[in-house]
Amino acid sequence: MSIDAATLDRLRAIVGPHGYLDRPSDVEPFLVDHRKLYHGATTIVLRPDSTEQVAAIMKLCNEARIGVVPVGGNTSYCGGATPSGDGSQIVLSLARMRRIRTLDPANYTMIAEAGCVLAEIQAAAASVDRLFPMSLGSEGSCQLGGNLSTNAGGTAVLRYGMMRDLVLGLEVVLPDGRVLDGLKPLRKDNTGYDLRDLFIGAEGTLGIITAAACKLFSRPAWALTAFVGVPDPHAAVTLLSRLRAFTSDAVTTFELVPRVALDLILQHIPATSDPLDRSHPWYVLLEIGMGRGAAAARESIEAELAVALEAGEITDAALAASEAQREMFWRLRETIPEAQSREGASIKHDISVTTSELPRFIVEGAALVARLAPGARLVSYGHLGDGNLHFNLSPPRGGNNEEFARLAPQVNRAVHDLVARYGGSFSAEHGIGQLKRGELLRYKNPVAIELMRSIKQAVDPNGIMNPGKVL
Ligand code: MLT
Ligand code: ZN
Repeated sequence: MSIDAATLDRLRAIVGPHGYLDRPSDVEPFLVDHRKLYHGATTIVLRPDSTEQVAAIMKLCNEARIGVVPVGGNTSYCGGATPSGDGSQIVLSLARMRRIRTLDPANYTMIAEAGCVLAEIQAAAASVDRLFPMSLGSEGSCQLGGNLSTNAGGTAVLRYGMMRDLVLGLEVVLPDGRVLDGLKPLRKDNTGYDLRDLFIGAEGTLGIITAAACKLFSRPAWALTAFVGVPDPHAAVTLLSRLRAFTSDAVTTFELVPRVALDLILQHIPATSDPLDRSHPWYVLLEIGMGRGAAAARESIEAELAVALEAGEITDAALAASEAQREMFWRLRETIPEAQSREGASIKHDISVTTSELPRFIVEGAALVARLAPGARLVSYGHLGDGNLHFNLSPPRGGNNEEFARLAPQVNRAVHDLVARYGGSFSAEHGIGQLKRGELLRYKNPVAIELMRSIKQAVDPNGIMNPGKVL
């Protein structure tokens, strides 16, 4: 079912000659998702450069009942920005809406357009001595609109929260072309329903976020970055409580890394080396940041780490002595997904439970996957400080990728059932997209699903916004 030529001409006229791609080779990158799980089709990728153009596109698509798939940096793990395979949908890229509209260091806010790359937002904040703390492996290509639409997480959630916590207001184009202008950079505005939160995490199923008023923070004057060996996840949780209390919550990052992940990195990622002399079963990458006024705190935190060593919470520690070493420690965490994919097939999970129950979950989950996928390597790593792990599996050493991948449905089901028994989430930070719609129906509270459906019907009665995603 393709879009008729007259409608395509009207869409082209809205955006002008530089505002669309329709040569197959130009369109191709938009047809496959980051993990190459989904292959779609479309006749045209529209690239509007203003809110008005987005509004005009939506109005026309709503009248013509054409599905619209918004795309940012196309780094979704769940196929959230890939069109359907029948060619009936258009893709709408926000990449040309890339302006920083206002930067107000005294108010600690910035208004930026959805197509700004996350690294550009971070740099704009830094240019006025402020911090935009969202930090992700894909920050060099992912875009603000995608970060918001998926409520991105990353490695500083422990201290600053998820994307939802980092914005004050949004500008959203609704499916019928109306513009919801909620861009006020106010910290207090108690005037009825919080519509902003509807669009964050909605994965483009309710409207198109075109700009956001983002919260900024003070830049830490210094950071202590350490790669520490720990005997087990339980000790890591104890260490986290110790450091949070000791620093009054200045711990920015607390990432769990199992030895098996480090082995994959040392094998597959160039220019990496083991940060500690001996091998340890588990590691934590931690970072603590503070201001100029707390310069003396650094030494006392080092002393506290020595106390943690005495207490058996850590078995060894390397403190980054230079920016290059700090980058190396970060590389040992951020390249885990790449190292795992170079090793072969992966069975992935993005789960959360409470941080306090995470160690018990890891033990139970490990026993479960050992039964269901004998010999598979459990590469469970990630955001321990948020109770969120990428509880992933790699095939047995030398094992067959296809045979291993066939186990995914049973393993996913068992792991997600276990997560449900813990009252946890089957998708802590990667969203639903196309990949986890079945899981949503199975695990999400039925009343919540009913409400989500009612909201979708009220906001997008013709079902043109990112059809086939989430619900
Ligand atoms: C990460 O934390 O590295 C990312 O969420 C990607 C992932 O491995 O799933
Ligand atoms: Zn993650």
